[in-house]
Amino acid sequence: MSLATLYPWLKALHVVSAFLFVAGILTTSMVLAAERANPGSAAPVAGLLAKSERWLTTPAMLLVWAFGLTLAVTAGWFSSTWLQVKLAFVVLLSAVHGLQSGQLRRLVRKKALKPLPTLPLILVSLLAVVVLAVVKL
Ligand code: HEM
Repeated sequence: MSLATLYPWLKALHVVSAFLFVAGILTTSMVLAAERANPGSAAPVAGLLAKSERWLTTPAMLLVWAFGLTLAVTAGWFSSTWLQVKLAFVVLLSAVHGLQSGQLRRLVRKKALKPLPTLPLILVSLLAVVVLAVVKL
């Protein structure tokens, strides 16, 4: 069986991974915002969030990239503008993930958080990524 035959399955797994990745970074963004607004409020969920960051959000991000790159190579999408622009936004989302992971580690160690308003960045990037992937502008 060739990769081309598996294409719809790879795309489905890509979208599921993207769903889990985005759910993870959105949750972390909101918990960090709550902690900044009301220090100490996120303490009860910090450990759980750090665990899901390690075992769910980070692996989901790696799978998004792995499935996405496989799809792009299989169908030859790299020369398309929609994918090139989409990649810029995905790199931004991956950077947001890295920055938030650092803040989450500070939260677990009970250190003060830095101001990092990631929610608007995540929402705008998500809108761009999905519109580009579906409409292929
Ligand atoms: C958070 C990150 C990402 C999200 C939310 C996302 C979302 C999506 C969605 C919703 C689709 C389905 C489009 C459709 O069937 O019409 C898709 C397809 C695709 N994505 Fe992503 N994606 C992400 C990251 C990536 C990355 C990192 C790459 C490549 C390096 C990539 C490459 C592709 C390709 C090649 C397709 C298939 C397009 C097609 O065959 O129609 N994606 N993505």
